[in-house]
Amino acid sequence: MPHNVVLIGFSGSGKSRIGRALAQRLGWPLVDTDARLVSRFGCSIGEFFRVHGEAAFRSAESEEVVRACAEQRHVISVGGGAPVRAGNWAAIADRNLVVRLHASLETIWRRLHEMPGGEERPMLSGDDARGRMAKLLADRESVYARAHLTIETDDLSVDEVVDRIVSAIEASVA
Ligand code: S3P
Repeated sequence: MPHNVVLIGFSGSGKSRIGRALAQRLGWPLVDTDARLVSRFGCSIGEFFRVHGEAAFRSAESEEVVRACAEQRHVISVGGGAPVRAGNWAAIADRNLVVRLHASLETIWRRLHEMPGGEERPMLSGDDARGRMAKLLADRESVYARAHLTIETDDLSVDEVVDRIVSAIEASVA
């Protein structure tokens, strides 16, 4: 049995929605490290980036990722950039089932524009957001690809994605 399930993937890949549904199905608490950072900062991630910069954000993010991954029987959703730092990856992959949620650039773009506050993504705001999104996705691909399980979410319902993750947990204890 994995200690935790950690959901990774780009913004808009469905980590928050799937995380909530999976936590409910398993009866495990959900930790969303971005949400923890927002309450720790007392402001949005966008605002924190503007005032303190990305490096300060990444340090705080690492602390929350390491803390969350030391839990047991939790569903953990981490920000899209979290798996990139080696120390974060070590915590994410340590005895946990790592599930990468993947969606096409089209789907991500659409979801981010439909989400309330979806444009408040500092890595994706400003000029040529779509070009930067494509580049970030390409840069992170080799890290995301290390997940134990990748699920293409474009054409699946939330329940179908959750079914696949639950099957993977069951297979790991069989
Ligand atoms: C980031 C993704 C965001 C958030 C921050 C940085 C990134 O999380 O952690 O804006 O580097 O891709 P989501 O993946 O939940 O959007």
